Amino acid sequence: MEKLVIEGGNPLHGTIRVSGSKNAALPILLASLLCSETVTLTNVPNLRDITTSFKLLELLGCKIERAEGTAKITPVTLQPEAPYELVKTMRASVLCLGPLLARLGQADVALPGGCAIGARPVDLHLKALERMGAEFSLDSGYIRGRCGKLQGAKISFEFPTVGGTENLLMAASLAKGTTVLENAAREPEIVDLAKFLIAMGAKISGHGTSVITIEGVEKLHACEYKIMPDRIEAGTFIIAAAMTDGELLVEDCPTESLEGLLVVLQEMGVYTEEKETGLLVRRATNLLYATDITTQPFPGFPTDMQAQVMSLMCCATGAGSIDEKIFENRFMHVQELVRLGADIKLKGSTAIIRGVTHLTGAPVMASDLRASASLILAGLVAHGETEVERIYHLDRGYEAIEKKLSAVGAKIARVSS
Ligand code: EPZ
Repeated sequence: MEKLVIEGGNPLHGTIRVSGSKNAALPILLASLLCSETVTLTNVPNLRDITTSFKLLELLGCKIERAEGTAKITPVTLQPEAPYELVKTMRASVLCLGPLLARLGQADVALPGGCAIGARPVDLHLKALERMGAEFSLDSGYIRGRCGKLQGAKISFEFPTVGGTENLLMAASLAKGTTVLENAAREPEIVDLAKFLIAMGAKISGHGTSVITIEGVEKLHACEYKIMPDRIEAGTFIIAAAMTDGELLVEDCPTESLEGLLVVLQEMGVYTEEKETGLLVRRATNLLYATDITTQPFPGFPTDMQAQVMSLMCCATGAGSIDEKIFENRFMHVQELVRLGADIKLKGSTAIIRGVTHLTGAPVMASDLRASASLILAGLVAHGETEVERIYHLDRGYEAIEKKLSAVGAKIARVSS
């Protein structure tokens, strides 16, 4: 097992580059199953979940060629089964349901099971696919889906599910007729997936709004596509600059997809300025101010930034609150931050945070991907040394974060524990 050891108190200065988006790359990789020719992807991040996705694609019958941030994927002879030992390590594997049903009329995908932040059911995915003619049974922990040619349908989601919208976008691309998705998710990663599908010849409009229309086509063709930058990694670096009272140029920052976050950070006393190659970030004055936040579907405040902004609020003046509306158990980082001296009280789905004059380093334990990031941010400012354990969670979604942070002045190292 490895851990990160952080010596706090060093303001970050310099340029830090944002990698390709994990949450755009995952659905796009699985969408390549829809094509019978080779697709070429660039700006693919080097993450554990991406490696897992390539393993899944090979298991499903694709030839993969990877070099640096580029990947060539050629579906050769597809088979319909995504096994539990792989799916349990990455729940996003459920995004192969739509492509497999569209291409093979069959999908046997292990039910992902819950995770640290919640039950994470996929009922909305299945209900929507049933509207297109798929039939599902649950047998020994596997979702077994069968269908003839999928039929276009009008689908209204009870909740704007990101994964559900992605599965349906992929399934509808090769269906017979037109599909309309209402109350669809509007996240930038949905837009990136739609743009990739369109590059392969899909007919999609309305992506990025709550109503997406997809006109099914017979076949999709080869294409080359660049994955968008990771807005959550970018947001994490923006908060790191503000917390350490430094100044960073966050290069290749997808600023247009961070409005919901930046509005709140500016209220808290963070200064940002668009530059030619990225976003310049520092504090507006020497103080940070607490505020009240509720996580929402895009374009609201992103749940994936909740843990990170909590760390920022621990160092702010005054008391603020964070109401986590998306996931039922996404406060696992709270007790770890309290170990570092934070003043946080939980009341149901709301955390009340009172800023403290300083945090003090201690050993803490990561519980999930974004909790890991919040503990690193806290360690960057805590007095003394902080050790973050179980950083295999971190490696799922941040590419070489300790190298990127060290390069701008952080005292952080990865050691075996
Ligand atoms: C995606 O998860 C992201 N993962 C998550 O990022 C992100 O937090 C989430 O969207 C919300 O933005 C990827 O893109 C790989 P949802 P997803 O379907 O698709 C409930 C990270 O840290 N729901 O919008 O699973 C569900 O339980 C990860 O990078 C149902 O009830 O999100 C949750 O409470 C964490 N039934 C809420 O909706 C369903 O069928 C949001 O889920 C589907 C979802």
